[in-house]
Amino acid sequence: MFRPIRGMKDLYGVSAKKYEYITEVATKIGAKYGYSLITTPTVEATEVFQRSIGDETDVVSKEMYTFVDKGGDSITLRPEGTAGVMRAIVSNNLAQSLPVKLMYHGEMFRYDRPQKGRYRQFHQVGAECVGDKSPYTDATLICMATEILSGIGIFDFKVLLNTLGDKETREAYTKGLVKYFSRHEDKLSEDSKRRLGKNPMRILDSKDEGDREICQMAPLITDYLSKESAQYFRKVCELLEVCDINFEVDNFLVRGLDYYSETAFEFKSTAGDYDDAIGGGGRYDDLLKVFGGADVSGIGFAFGVERLMLLLDDEKFKEDIRKVAVIPVTDDENDYAFQLLKSLYEAGVPSEFIHHGNLGKKMKVADRQNCKIAIIIGEDEVKNEVYTVKFMDCTDDREKTKSVAAANIVSFIKHNL
Ligand code: HAM
Repeated sequence: MFRPIRGMKDLYGVSAKKYEYITEVATKIGAKYGYSLITTPTVEATEVFQRSIGDETDVVSKEMYTFVDKGGDSITLRPEGTAGVMRAIVSNNLAQSLPVKLMYHGEMFRYDRPQKGRYRQFHQVGAECVGDKSPYTDATLICMATEILSGIGIFDFKVLLNTLGDKETREAYTKGLVKYFSRHEDKLSEDSKRRLGKNPMRILDSKDEGDREICQMAPLITDYLSKESAQYFRKVCELLEVCDINFEVDNFLVRGLDYYSETAFEFKSTAGDYDDAIGGGGRYDDLLKVFGGADVSGIGFAFGVERLMLLLDDEKFKEDIRKVAVIPVTDDENDYAFQLLKSLYEAGVPSEFIHHGNLGKKMKVADRQNCKIAIIIGEDEVKNEVYTVKFMDCTDDREKTKSVAAANIVSFIKHNL
């Protein structure tokens, strides 16, 4: 028997409903904030991710699904949505009037170690706003993200917030980190030793226990912030307070991707013990430029849909829609009943056509399929143009069965379903 690839899941039943619900609520709220949907290809040229996410990140160095295709080109299943959206903005010349505000949802791939809430194929719903750099934009985007969480019914969460400063800040901070980590180099993991020379800020994102301990005493970015970046960050914090957002400043939050500058944030659930981030994002100053676009800054976020799904109650997604069973008594009534089925669909009534086996079996199928009403059509019903309607859950024998004239059946059903 074939099974899905390790770390990849089929979504059906409750999980499919949750997926649909989350993406629908997010897109509706996004539309209110001026975001329209974009769908980009699942695979891109490998360079799209290498150039933007950064070679030293875990995502690029360890987790990408990269293949050489039959034409000899290196292609990669997208590990995140932002890079593809930036590529698409440039490819389609979408940045003629700024800001460009786009939302997306779809599958992402990371060759990570699978565990609860961590998969090799997962889904994100995200948004990007390009071409409007201001603390007001950052605060509005974070507000929108929190509104999406509460819109889908997740209220117990906090926002971890940090600033990664401007270029000047990061250059100074990098020097400070190199000085600090060099003193502890012998105790660093092999990955971190390599990163010390190439991208020391990445060490702060290491999952290695030993590295984490050393990181605890590492210098803070706040001590290196340029005047402009400090002022920018202060204003973002002030605006989030105005918006009543539950946030905490975490100066070690560096995020797992290299493209961030200034505001960076993550969403954590405060219900139960689920500790991984349910979403994250931040500002990026150079990303569009990397793809050959204008030198404008952007900001965005993405939620992990599976992680949001974990926080939603299954029971709420179990209710079936109320539907009708159209049941011809014998095959002779099939065509006649089929006409009724068609009228019900045209009127928007959820219906099932149950026409295999004897009447007893058909009634059992209707019950199993959770139909609330059965319309039974036998020889007499056809002749007299009157249908027998059965309310499946009704316990009062006098009310359980009704005869309804064929001419009125659709409106009767719409009224009583
Ligand atoms: P990220 O933090 O790498 O950011 O991913 C965003 C969210 O995707 C995470 O917070 C998590 O909920 C979910 N996620 C990540 N990896 C997995 C996994 N293996 N299994 C399940 N869920 C996962 C980004 O991807 C950025 N593109 C966000 C962004 C948009 N920044 C600016 N614009």
